[in-house]
Amino acid sequence: MHHDLHRVLVSAQQLQARVKELGRQITLDYRENGDLTIVVIINGAIVFASDLIRCIDLPLRLDCMRVSSYRDETKPVSAPEILDTVRLDLAGRHVLLIDDIMDTGRTTENVSKILAGAGPASLRICVLLEKKGRREVGINPDYVGFQIPDEFVVGYGLDFAEQYRNLPMIGVLRPEAQNPPVWR
Ligand code: IMP
Ligand code: MG
Repeated sequence: MHHDLHRVLVSAQQLQARVKELGRQITLDYRENGDLTIVVIINGAIVFASDLIRCIDLPLRLDCMRVSSYRDETKPVSAPEILDTVRLDLAGRHVLLIDDIMDTGRTTENVSKILAGAGPASLRICVLLEKKGRREVGINPDYVGFQIPDEFVVGYGLDFAEQYRNLPMIGVLRPEAQNPPVWR
């Protein structure tokens, strides 16, 4: 375990097992469609998505969307900023949006609105983690890796100030390592 972690919430083995299950489920659900376009929200979902797509046994197209969602003490919740959008044509396609974590849901909601505007045949949401009881908007993921408590987590793509994305597990950051407490 990394010395900045207070405890491990999801081990590397648990992550790999669950990602395999999700891949199997997505393969079954999209098998009849004959078409799948994956849109990954980067940077956070990079590690999850790279593992997940290798567990999906279907032809698929991949694109990314770069989004920055942040919060500070003066502004309540800023609308997530779209820094770079998808290049693939999504019209009439079956689109699966992949994100690292659904907290308030605002990032996912905003991104799904943009993707829905491109006229996909269907749009589903897959998140690795879901923080229960934190939702501020009426959006629900179709696929969830793990429900987690309301604690700040890092690893497996999730960062604190761009650190810890390369940890193979998901862990709760020590409070001392969360200084300053502004993290997005
Ligand atoms: P939401 O818009 O409140 O749902 O926040 C989603 C974004 O906030 C995620 O894509 C992450 O980038 C970030 N985030 C939320 N909770 C955590 C966490 O516990 N650790 C790291 N990033 C987080
Ligand atoms: Mg982040």
